[in-house]
Amino acid sequence: MRDRNSHLIDRRSALKLAGGVAATGLAARFPTPAIAQAAALKVGFMLPYTGTYAPLAKAIDNAFRMYVDEKGGKLGGRSIQYVTVDDEAEPAKGPDNMNKLVSRENVDVVVGTVHSGVAMAMVKIARESNKLLIIPNAGANAATGPMCAPNIFRTSFTNWQPCYPMGKVMADAGVKRAITITWKYAAGEEDVVAFREGFGKAGGTIDAELYVPFPEVEFQSYLTQIAEKKPDGVFAFFAGGGAVKFVRDYAAAGLKKSIPLYGPGFLTDGTLQAQGEAADGLKTTLHYADDLDNPANKAFRANYQKRYSAEADVYGVQGYDAAALLGVGLDAVKGDFAATQALYAAMRGAKLDSPRGPVTFSAAQNPVQNIYLREVRGGKNAYVSIAAAALADPATGCKMA
Ligand code: PHB
Repeated sequence: MRDRNSHLIDRRSALKLAGGVAATGLAARFPTPAIAQAAALKVGFMLPYTGTYAPLAKAIDNAFRMYVDEKGGKLGGRSIQYVTVDDEAEPAKGPDNMNKLVSRENVDVVVGTVHSGVAMAMVKIARESNKLLIIPNAGANAATGPMCAPNIFRTSFTNWQPCYPMGKVMADAGVKRAITITWKYAAGEEDVVAFREGFGKAGGTIDAELYVPFPEVEFQSYLTQIAEKKPDGVFAFFAGGGAVKFVRDYAAAGLKKSIPLYGPGFLTDGTLQAQGEAADGLKTTLHYADDLDNPANKAFRANYQKRYSAEADVYGVQGYDAAALLGVGLDAVKGDFAATQALYAAMRGAKLDSPRGPVTFSAAQNPVQNIYLREVRGGKNAYVSIAAAALADPATGCKMA
């Protein structure tokens, strides 16, 4: 341990020490493996509980806890203890915040985060410390690409996954020239690359790429440029509070009727109540739709509504599945978190009956999942069709893949 709590002893060192001093009779003071197993498993949530992504953090945290409670408060026989850190969607604070959980709190598993830039700082520390990391949102391609590792899993998506299929969707709708607009950071940039790949293959061209500093929401000058350039369609990535404001501003500027707006489904997920009519009719692609007709989704939405008096969204699904994935691993090793190889092998082989439909994991430990075309209708992201079935990220650069 490196930080100011270096007097604390972690469980592994305690066990080693216990073995070494057994003859002196001190061993009884240290936990035996059986006792260690019965102890609560410590889960550290590192999420942006404040700022533009705060609603996303809340949904992930809510649904993770809901899953655990649905299982009687235990996963693999272990009760769960939670520690939370607000990462503020602030990449510069990422290393310190991750170290709080890994070194100071010595959690067993870190669940986080939402923002791709913060996630990359977490991935680096997870690789160095061998701490189990489950990413419940951030799409940074590298986390399950060149930076993939046996102890890093993701229950959400890569930035490539929901955006690549949108290229064909827009081309099929008659869009030949598009403009893209996103926040300027890893997620937005990777979204545009993926969209460009799909749109280019389908014969489309991008006229201009507009970038807004994260997390700014002053869109007026960009909307003026879109109005002047008159593309056939716009591809936009914003999420949370920024998505609410962008969709409202786009409609208020009078652009919605003349230049159709598309994007990955983050543009309209968890945001519809606040967006109101401005979002009606928007078509997006994502690994979830509100009205997916499967029993897991129906139960998930009903329980979430009952427990939190709020509509569930894709972020909740990802948090719920993070708990489900951990549960599969812990069940396989009967709660023995130290059986790392078997734990990770079970997680890699997990087949989740997710509210989003079937989910398996690629060799890079990222979900293989359907990407749906959805349309906002009656305050819901309604299922239209499957835009890409069982889509796996290419995981370029991952040595495990
Ligand atoms: C990301 O930073 O990877 C990110 C954030 C919010 C989303 C999607 C992706 O809704």
